[in-house]
Amino acid sequence: MEYYKLVVLALSFASIVSCTTSSHHGGPQIQWGACDPSVVNDTSLSCGFLEVPLDYQDPSVGKARLALIKANATGERRGSVFFNPGGPGGSGLAAVNEDKDLLLGLSGGVYDVISWDPRGVGNLTVPGEVFCFDDFAEYTTFFNGTIELTGIEETGNFTNPADIKALLVQAPTMQKKYEQLGQKCLQSPSGKFLKYIGTAAVVRDMVSIANALDGPGTPINYIGTSYGTLIGSWFVNMFPERVGRVVIDGVIDPLVFATQEPALSFRSQLISADTIYKALITGCALSGPSGCAAASEGDGPLDIDAKVQALLKIAYDATKLNASVPITSGNIRVELFSEMYTPADWSNLVNEEYPQIVQIVNGEAPGNATLRKRSKRLIGRNPLVKRGSQPNDSPSFTSTAIYCADSVDLRGTTMEQVFKGIISTAQNVTHLFGSSWPATFYRCSFWPVRSVERYQGPFNKTLANKILIASNLLDPITPLPGAETVARLLGKDAVLVRQNGFGHTTVSEPSTCLNEIAVTYFTNGTLPANNTLCEVDADFEVFSGVNTADILAHLPSTDV
Ligand SMILES: *[C@@H]1O[C@H](CO)[C@@H](O)[C@H](O)[C@H]1NC(C)=O
Ligand SMILES: *[C@@H]1O[C@H](CO)[C@@H](O)[C@H](O)[C@H]1NC(C)=O
Ligand SMILES: *[C@@H]1O[C@H](CO)[C@@H](O)[C@H](O)[C@H]1NC(C)=O
Ligand SMILES: *[C@@H]1O[C@H](CO)[C@@H](O)[C@H](O)[C@H]1NC(C)=O
Ligand SMILES: *[C@@H]1O[C@H](CO)[C@@H](O)[C@H](O)[C@H]1NC(C)=O
Ligand SMILES: *[C@@H]1O[C@H](CO)[C@@H](O)[C@H](O)[C@H]1NC(C)=O
Ligand SMILES: *[C@@H]1O[C@H](CO)[C@@H](O)[C@H](O)[C@H]1NC(C)=O
Ligand SMILES: *[C@@H]1O[C@H](CO)[C@@H](O)[C@H](O)[C@H]1NC(C)=O
Ligand SMILES: *[C@@H]1O[C@H](CO)[C@@H](O)[C@H](O)[C@H]1NC(C)=O
Ligand SMILES: *[C@@H]1O[C@H](CO)[C@@H](O)[C@H](O)[C@H]1NC(C)=O
Ligand SMILES: *[C@@H]1O[C@H](CO)[C@@H](O)[C@H](O)[C@H]1NC(C)=O
Repeated sequence: MEYYKLVVLALSFASIVSCTTSSHHGGPQIQWGACDPSVVNDTSLSCGFLEVPLDYQDPSVGKARLALIKANATGERRGSVFFNPGGPGGSGLAAVNEDKDLLLGLSGGVYDVISWDPRGVGNLTVPGEVFCFDDFAEYTTFFNGTIELTGIEETGNFTNPADIKALLVQAPTMQKKYEQLGQKCLQSPSGKFLKYIGTAAVVRDMVSIANALDGPGTPINYIGTSYGTLIGSWFVNMFPERVGRVVIDGVIDPLVFATQEPALSFRSQLISADTIYKALITGCALSGPSGCAAASEGDGPLDIDAKVQALLKIAYDATKLNASVPITSGNIRVELFSEMYTPADWSNLVNEEYPQIVQIVNGEAPGNATLRKRSKRLIGRNPLVKRGSQPNDSPSFTSTAIYCADSVDLRGTTMEQVFKGIISTAQNVTHLFGSSWPATFYRCSFWPVRSVERYQGPFNKTLANKILIASNLLDPITPLPGAETVARLLGKDAVLVRQNGFGHTTVSEPSTCLNEIAVTYFTNGTLPANNTLCEVDADFEVFSGVNTADILAHLPSTDV
């Protein structure tokens, strides 16, 4: 659930290094200076810190320290716009370093773009990144031989009784492992901070930063993508009188999140995933062998699908014979699912990665060090297991720590119930990705910590300003109904804009229409009619010679 750079509006940017600026509101001051070059390499950006209470209800607990970043407005400055890239656990510093131009462009250049590494993120904010193991080896030893590392093996839409039995038999072991994981995390150096990491505190942190920069009571402008939309929903309802211009894009349903266990409700986030896979195979077929290595002359979408299914089956069969294969069918499903987020990467996927996965699975280059390294990278890229920059780095559990600490109380749900939910998701919601494992969401029913504060509603407050809600018609992980729910609950205080495309958040495909709506909103306050539908730019080619509209016009009606 990260933020992707795909559309950049043309704008001029003055690159002058800042030294210090101080606030003039009498509250805490932020000293802006150079950024830590190990985290931010764009020297036109400024960085600073702000101390905030670790627990806003109990100042005696001590202080947290937030690492901040700022991209100066390119035009005449009217204030600040805050940004969070989602994750949860995405670094605001890294996101602004990468996507400064996009953010300044979308907000019309009239605000300083401000972001920060939220609690639990990075090594500059305190509390920082959550680690529960000393190193990667301790993690792999702890989970040796389990689906945490191999994923789930299944074939034929998870209808094979042997596959179902093989999963369910692991339920007690896996439940114990994730319960032990929670205890390990509590006993780690991160442990004492876990209950102060969470989205309600993050909302209060944003208000603290705004107070320091622009003064108490000032309108707060915000852009949140993916999990950043939950920060947005909580913010506008916790501080309705502070709402300035707010855009949320790729929306998590806050009502579902406030009332249901993520491990059981996650299926509702996957309803569009198979359709987006159909877009991938359709685009590949339309482009043909010259644009898509997986296509042979004359192949239709279902011929491409047959190849992918055959590959999954070969990997599945190989794993049944020898559990230590370099890549399992479960690993491939997870890798493929992460690709559903970013159509701009599809051409690279099918032309560079896919042929290598085929070789690995077919054992065609068993002694090839490049390929072995490659397969490790593929597994390491599993978006659900966040790796550090070094191969032996301990995996981060920040995403779990935030998502689970924000979620509803423990309800005694068993791993067997979670597994049955996964089987039914694979049978009925998404044949290809229902069995993707591991995932943050599934850990929450066994996570021992909840934040000292959570916001669980109401989500229909009257806001000081109207907000803009954006969603792709087809989003693999935050589907349209989340955005529709927020729009319905906020009524006249929100406008929904949909984008006729696929991928995670509307910025996964470029749309001049949506960019112009955002810029007009940020600079002039005006919004289009509710339910406006924007097209993706026709000159954006998903595969050589094939654009989004071509693909949408040719989606097969058959199930995959
Ligand atoms: C940003 O703007 C402030 C206030 O106008 C100025 O003092 C500072 O030098 C600017 N920083 C950069 C990096 O341009
Ligand atoms: C902090 O994180 C950055 C980026 O991940 C890394 O390059 C740097 O080495 C880290 N610094 C320390 C002291 O761990
Ligand atoms: C800055 O870091 C990004 C990755 O965050 C990298 O792609 C880019 O090449 C770096 N630029 C420089 C000038 O080092
Ligand atoms: C995992 O378990 C297998 C046997 O079950 C053992 O051979 C292997 O060394 C173990 N690996 C790790 C990393 O502990
Ligand atoms: C999954 O089920 C659909 C029908 O719902 C079918 O078309 C498809 O072939 C099945 N896939 C596999 C791999 O069995
Ligand atoms: C299983 O695969 C591993 C890694 O590819 C290999 O080292 C091992 O010899 C294989 N075991 C058998 C019984 O084939
Ligand atoms: C290993 O595989 C890669 C990718 O297929 C290939 O480019 C490379 O030449 C191979 N190396 C050797 C030593 O076979
Ligand atoms: C799948 O859906 C059908 C009807 O839509 C239902 O009868 C069936 O029980 C569901 N299967 C599972 C495993 O939930
Ligand atoms: C807001 O939602 C609550 C339920 O959370 C409901 O009781 C209340 O009537 C709603 N208020 C408005 C103004 O719709
Ligand atoms: C805007 O459209 C959404 C989605 O159809 C709907 O839920 C919401 O009620 C509409 N808002 C207004 C003010 O009509
Ligand atoms: C700017 O806002 C004013 C009034 O709020 C409106 O009349 C005007 O049409 C808007 N301009 C644009 C370009 O939307």
